[in-house]
Amino acid sequence: MSDLPFGDGEYRRRQEEFLSNMPIDSLVIIPNNQVSIRSNDTSYPYRANSYVLYLCGWSEPDSILTAKFDDGLWQTTLFVRPRDTKAEIWEGRRVGPEGALQGWPIDNSLSINDAEEYISKKIESGLKPSAIIGIDSKIDDIISDSKMSDIPDPRTLLDVMRTVKSEAEIDVMKEASRIASDAHVKAMRATHPGIGEWQIQSVIEGHFIDSRSQWSYKSIVGGGDNATILHYGSNSDSIEDGDLVLVDAGCEVHGYASDITRTWPVNGKFTEPQREIYNLVLEAEEAAIKACKVGSTWNSSHKAASLVLAKGLIDLGILDCTISEALGENLDGPFRNYFMHGTSHLLGLDVHDVGGGRKGDGKPGPTLESGMVLTVEPGLYFASWRDDVEIPERYSGIGIRIEDDVLVTEDGPVVLTAGCPKSIDEIESLISKGD
Ligand code: GLY
Ligand code: MN
Ligand code: MN
Repeated sequence: MSDLPFGDGEYRRRQEEFLSNMPIDSLVIIPNNQVSIRSNDTSYPYRANSYVLYLCGWSEPDSILTAKFDDGLWQTTLFVRPRDTKAEIWEGRRVGPEGALQGWPIDNSLSINDAEEYISKKIESGLKPSAIIGIDSKIDDIISDSKMSDIPDPRTLLDVMRTVKSEAEIDVMKEASRIASDAHVKAMRATHPGIGEWQIQSVIEGHFIDSRSQWSYKSIVGGGDNATILHYGSNSDSIEDGDLVLVDAGCEVHGYASDITRTWPVNGKFTEPQREIYNLVLEAEEAAIKACKVGSTWNSSHKAASLVLAKGLIDLGILDCTISEALGENLDGPFRNYFMHGTSHLLGLDVHDVGGGRKGDGKPGPTLESGMVLTVEPGLYFASWRDDVEIPERYSGIGIRIEDDVLVTEDGPVVLTAGCPKSIDEIESLISKGD
């Protein structure tokens, strides 16, 4: 009944590595995500918690993974929904505790109805809860009075582990990259002047569904000026002849994300100003990919991309200063007027994966190791409506980002999304071929 992407050994190895580093008087508690209501009695499609998926692949709601040290061994107990014919007639079949024990990499399974009492009793008996809080308010309430100070949050260990992908994980991520690459190619072929942003979205997401996949984040399809809005998401405008469209769309396979951005002209031919900016972003992207080497510091890709972009902005006459002035002391100079985001984030079970590296998460970001997967995604944006910075007329309304998913290896960076064309010649020939 289980549809696990990995064999028992892969999950047991993860559990062993994690639990062997936990204090033996801890009660590990990892609640699965809650179902979210969309309206009245209708819910959003369910997505299991990435830590639960990582440790045991369980994807039904109303479940909690726990672990405790007993008789010299770490033992996992998964609490799941009990079998219930009436509920299953309405909502779909359930695996139940017996099925869970047979088909999933766990040591015990019990009904979710027994979870609160079980956890309370274990805490009363002296175990210290090491829980992921903020997911399940009932669990938060139970543990709120107990002393958690000397027990690590499970995420501190799990995040480091999740940062480096195993061969098995990389295979799944290659599949997610392949599906998303093919989706972008299909969308390029379907593009024509006047096409609606939503129509490109439907080609992309139709391919995801057709491939038994789903989006890993809401697809961004921005034509013309909409491409300059970083988190544009309404995808509701038609795209005019002569405009570019920026498509940032990726999918998820067994929970593992891909994340691709391509930008192309809807009429199949880049104008000269579009070509100048596109080739500059492409040069920056290629330099940043080269910087994804074992032992490099986290911000190497961002430094590499920034250097190319700052120099290019000067060469194109958009900035009138020296390169070091353009870059600024902390890569915060005026080149940031047109490139406002980071160059990379880690990728895995979450599209902005755990393990540090995202601006604002307070962590410096890891030194790159073999097996890490990160995006490389520089861009330049010249929103026509901005009045806080100078927008050159020649480039007004142009927004371009190019994003690939890169595996760090001892032999250098491997672009998992290499199946998605990005040279001007390749893109122009795809669009002109039509559907
Ligand atoms: N699609 C989200 C990102 O590129 O980070
Ligand atoms: Mn990204
Ligand atoms: Mn993206």
